[in-house]
Amino acid sequence: MCGIVGYIGKDNAKNIVINGLKRLEYRGYDSAGVAFIDSGKLKIYKKSGKIRNLEFELNKDLSLPHIAIGHTRWATHGEPNDINAHPHVDCTAKIAVVHNGIVENFTELRKLLENRGHKFKSQTDTEVIAHLIEEEIQKGKNLQEAVLSAVAKLKGSYAAAVICESEPDKIVCVRKDSPLVIGIGEGENFIASDVPAFLSYTNKVIFLNDNECAVVTADNIKIFDLNGNKIEKAIKEIPWSIAQAEKGGYKHFMLKEIHEQPKAIGDTISGKMSIFKKDGKISMDFDKVQIVACGTSFHAGLIGKFFIESISQIPVSVDYASEYRYRNPIIDNKTLIIAISQSGETADTLAAVRLAKKKGAKVVAICNVIGSTITREADYTIYTHAGPEISVASTKAFTTQLAALFLFAVEVAKVRKAINEETENKLLNELSEIPKKLKTFLELEKERKFIRKIALEFYNSKDALYLGRFVNYPIALEGALKLKEISYIHAEGYPAGEMKHGPIALIDEKMPVVVIAPKDRVYEKMVSNIEEVKARKGKVIAVTNANCSEIEKLADFTIEIPITEELLYPFLTVVPLQLFAYHIADFLGYDVDQPRNLAKSVTVE
Ligand code: AGP
Repeated sequence: MCGIVGYIGKDNAKNIVINGLKRLEYRGYDSAGVAFIDSGKLKIYKKSGKIRNLEFELNKDLSLPHIAIGHTRWATHGEPNDINAHPHVDCTAKIAVVHNGIVENFTELRKLLENRGHKFKSQTDTEVIAHLIEEEIQKGKNLQEAVLSAVAKLKGSYAAAVICESEPDKIVCVRKDSPLVIGIGEGENFIASDVPAFLSYTNKVIFLNDNECAVVTADNIKIFDLNGNKIEKAIKEIPWSIAQAEKGGYKHFMLKEIHEQPKAIGDTISGKMSIFKKDGKISMDFDKVQIVACGTSFHAGLIGKFFIESISQIPVSVDYASEYRYRNPIIDNKTLIIAISQSGETADTLAAVRLAKKKGAKVVAICNVIGSTITREADYTIYTHAGPEISVASTKAFTTQLAALFLFAVEVAKVRKAINEETENKLLNELSEIPKKLKTFLELEKERKFIRKIALEFYNSKDALYLGRFVNYPIALEGALKLKEISYIHAEGYPAGEMKHGPIALIDEKMPVVVIAPKDRVYEKMVSNIEEVKARKGKVIAVTNANCSEIEKLADFTIEIPITEELLYPFLTVVPLQLFAYHIADFLGYDVDQPRNLAKSVTVE
């Protein structure tokens, strides 16, 4: 998830684009750049780091261009640095492109273009777009035609904006599976990934749909489909403040990020994994896996153990990184370490990685931030494509970590011939259904606000207990952590089978007990646990499937989730718990995105 901005009009386009990028910094902030045309010449400025670094460079340039495009980056392909920052240009440096999305077939396209003599400067997927447009213009096409022909060759997602010296009076932009909106001004127009970029100038907008292209000049906007047919579009008025807009109309980043999970999981699933390929850095001769992580990432690791052991039959241990580094773990060169970290900067996880490497183990990192320390020290990194996670309470990073762990388990099993092609396809098909199922659940909840109503019943609770079994026991831990970290209510997650060995003593009519009980191999066991809780007058909030009458009769509240393969339920069971915690914290009026005593990345021991 990056941010793109464009402006054409009478004012200084550089300043307007820079201000717009600052408004989109929540979409990505590891590098930025601007391209503009001044007295017929295309100029490019790009800098790694915060936008102020770029602004410092740009302020040295005194030109007053009226057309510019800009980009703030969240790296997916290629380290965050000045070269990989956008905009990217073609061989003639007369065409500039900014892009948000992932060109999945960029490796093949790059090879083709290099064989035809194109010289590439960056490691990005985006640069192929500039060279493809260059070829179409050399065939005599105008900029709009060239852009449409170029994107016809792309696989993946894109929101892209293009300017070129030969047509300095227009910005051509196009979208597929990444957001793009046009801002309508008087004698000036704007394009951007999101409305906050230009909301201080205009609230009149046209939202581009997938497979649409716009040709934007200072006093005109034309919309076409990808075959070049003209389309009429409605102009909408945005009623939001800029702060609201940055959260996409949601009250907090956490709620926005919860609703971004279907896309984030989809993007992570579509990522290619070449971990064990001939040129892959990890050989297959490991005989045990040790997962190290902290907090929510540790809970993802616990579920990863279920995935890897049940699908690829390899023994897995899971450790809190802060404990692992001091327990003198048994590590040898047949040990594969999986270090899970959203930020890639967590000190305890980093120390565990360094310890393991010193003892000869190979390290696979599962991380959400390209260029972060753990990705540089690991032997191989599987990237989660959650995009920037602003809220301290991790939500979308968690479910994308689950997706990465599931893909890893299937890849290991495939390479070790522990599963046949039919099973592999079945598992991957089930996984590919998750984004749709989650989207349906979230849209229904947005309408019904059922979980918000349940939260209203319990936001004054002093304690809460979360129970789960099998692959949903770690979800009980994660649900309890979410409630603790944003509502400051004491909460415990427990394997439901353990309840009778102690926690059951806590239960009375004041204790909310959240029970995760989908229709899987331990369903009946969970029903008996609910009966034990009800026998002590506990208040039961059950997360289960539709038509589970036993639970509906027993529970005080029943939250229904879609049906899926039993190993995949954590993708669906965690989301109601994220929402439950969110609404309780919101009712308590806390700053949900910046809870007390917590940091998004814990870089100290
Ligand atoms: C989770 O909501 C918290 N922010 C925290 O527990 C977090 O998961 C932990 O600090 C690990 O962070 P990491 O994934 O960036 O390494």
